Amino acid sequence: MARHSKSSQRWLERQRRDYFAKQALDQGRVSRAHFKLEQLDQRFKLLKPSMNVLELGAAPGGWTQFLEQRITQGTLVAVDPLPITAAAQTHVIEGSIGEPDTDAELATLLDPLPLDLVLSDMAPNISGVRSADQAQAMYLVEIAEEAALKWLKPGGDLVVKVFQGEGVDAWVAGLREHFARVQLVKPKASRPESREVYAVARQYRG
Ligand SMILES: C[S@@+](CC[C@H](N)C(=O)[O-])C[C@H]1O[C@@H](n2cnc3c(N)ncnc32)[C@H](O)[C@@H]1O
Repeated sequence: MARHSKSSQRWLERQRRDYFAKQALDQGRVSRAHFKLEQLDQRFKLLKPSMNVLELGAAPGGWTQFLEQRITQGTLVAVDPLPITAAAQTHVIEGSIGEPDTDAELATLLDPLPLDLVLSDMAPNISGVRSADQAQAMYLVEIAEEAALKWLKPGGDLVVKVFQGEGVDAWVAGLREHFARVQLVKPKASRPESREVYAVARQYRG
């Protein structure tokens, strides 16, 4: 029988008890993250079939799978340094946004393709040092915003995973200068013990 470290045993135990992890398994979803995007879409009506969408932090592909079912006539570009389970029609970029090669590949694809929606579920590797982890999380939030300001059409939307902590209030205030409406929300499928919330920014002013 496979032996697991204490932390992976804790993770397995939590998955066994977790309602959305069980649902993901039963429904053949790539990851339980699927339900967070589904719940955000139910609440905000974010997705339409003909949209052009950039998805940042896409691996292992839970959101990608949901998006592929909803974006049937548009274009989906999914970015992550880790492998993404994606359909043939999805443009997968294996790399980290913010790194020159990935940014160049993105620019080639997106300069002629104005976006309706930018989604980021990016999360940093956790070091356990709270201030360093928060700084890294805020860096990811900022590069997601930068991508949105560069490639969104006026009227487009941005949804970003944010970890509540230092820097978030100032960042949200800045976002309000670029979007008509900004809300921080926590979908039911987001683990209650996690500091993660999502900033939903509507109607980019351009
Ligand atoms: C919580 S997971 C995303 C889960 C995914 N949305 C799903 O539904 O399966 C966070 C991801 O962010 C990715 N990530 C972190 N920094 C990134 C960067 N600079 N560019 C792209 N992806 C990044 C990580 O590799 C990781 O796969």
